[in-house]
Amino acid sequence: MKKEFILVAALMMTGGLTLAYAVNVDKGKTLFESPSLGGGTTGKSCSTCHEGGKNLGSDLFERKQFTIMKMDKKSLAEVINICIEKPLGGAAIDSQGQDMKDLIAYMKTLVGNQAGNKENAEKK
Ligand code: HEC
Repeated sequence: MKKEFILVAALMMTGGLTLAYAVNVDKGKTLFESPSLGGGTTGKSCSTCHEGGKNLGSDLFERKQFTIMKMDKKSLAEVINICIEKPLGGAAIDSQGQDMKDLIAYMKTLVGNQAGNKENAEKK
């Protein structure tokens, strides 16, 4: 009896952990296309300017330092929050939160798509 209880408890814990770390790419896509992300007020979404990965550098996920609108930022989440605050006219979201994780997970699928990214656009 006791053993079974421990087993069930262990399963529940690992299940919970998996959920806590899982990212939801579909949710990220919804956020990316939502003008109300961060309570946005300009009617723009990330997708308005970055559809298909446009204006996102192909090395975005390898960089350790970022410069956006002439500001130095240490993390991608901070860069994203600048875009939420300025072009979307919203308020920064929790940089460690689930929404940020989902958003980043979706953006990874875009940056893998070479067709729309910055470097390619600049080569033309
Ligand atoms: C009105 C257009 C616009 C909107 C809307 C917008 N961005 Fe941006 N974003 C830009 C521009 C322009 C840059 C480049 C700025 C620079 O290099 O100084 C940029 C840069 C970025 C970068 C850095 C790219 C790189 O390779 O350095 C990321 C990441 C980013 N945006 C994410 C987002 C996210 C996420 C959203 C939605 C919350 C968003 N952006 C909404 C215009 C926009």
